[in-house]
Amino acid sequence: MSGALSQNPAEAQRAALVADALTGLSAERKTLPCKWLYDAEGTRLFEAITNLPEYYPTRTEVAILEQCGPEIARAIGPGAAVVEFGPGDGAKAVQLLQQLDSPVVYLPVDIAPEWLAAAAARVKTAFPALRVQPVVADFTQPFDLAGRAEGSTTHLGFFPGSTIGNFEPADAIAFLRRARTSLRTGARMLLGADLVKEIPVLRAAYDDAAGVTAAFNLNLLARLNREAGADFDVSGFRHEARWNAVASRIEMHLVAQHAQSVRMAGRVFHFRAGESIHTESSHKYHPEHMRGLAAAAGWQVTGMWTDAGDNFSVWLLES
Ligand code: AVI
Repeated sequence: MSGALSQNPAEAQRAALVADALTGLSAERKTLPCKWLYDAEGTRLFEAITNLPEYYPTRTEVAILEQCGPEIARAIGPGAAVVEFGPGDGAKAVQLLQQLDSPVVYLPVDIAPEWLAAAAARVKTAFPALRVQPVVADFTQPFDLAGRAEGSTTHLGFFPGSTIGNFEPADAIAFLRRARTSLRTGARMLLGADLVKEIPVLRAAYDDAAGVTAAFNLNLLARLNREAGADFDVSGFRHEARWNAVASRIEMHLVAQHAQSVRMAGRVFHFRAGESIHTESSHKYHPEHMRGLAAAAGWQVTGMWTDAGDNFSVWLLES
């Protein structure tokens, strides 16, 4: 058996982290993929972010789903199979399922079975009679519902939280197109997307006064020390949230406070003072921009709901 085939999932994950870090830190503009922000500590810090006063997206989306829930449920109709992409702790699924008319099954999709357990358990506790069938799959790639949505009138994809904003626009289109394929003919998609707003509001949401987002970002370097054997001096870097007006996105960076070198996997990476590692992009949309992304992926917009301040949006797409 080859080395790669004999790896257990934890070893495979560690190898992928090292490979991504070597590629990202070797680039002219250093970068690390944002998916690596979410180890156990990163997930805990992200949960804390969603409760911060400055971080408006989570509570605004929850409020939209609450206030507009009956209208959203009417637009979806009875008997839906709800397919959630990356369900987290399942809290938003519970909120949606409460509103829907007679949903038939809840299908949370994620790559790691342990990540699905919490969402499945939460939904099962809230709706003991509902069929709950986790799907272990990489939801950024096409996957097969394999009869699990049988008996439903519609396959409703659910992708809340503006996680779509963490994709580059081309990747967002590719994701939406693949989701349409996975959900099959007659599919729908309920999608959360953050909207463009005043820059100080955006900046504060990604650089809060309590420093939780800074800790979330810096944890990525600590993770590379823990899991990839790197020797980052974490205190030699600071968190920065930048508004990139051209790309319409908030970028998270880790900025070297002084010139320094870091060792990882037998390689040495040099940082100039002020040089940064770009760790995450969070795109903010104008409604027409989101319509364009949906159309480019073959979806039609059939509903759109926002809060009174036009801070966040929830979209219903049909294929
Ligand atoms: C998960 N994602 C939608 C969050 C966002 O707002 O882009 C991640 C995040 N990064 C910093 N704060 C929150």
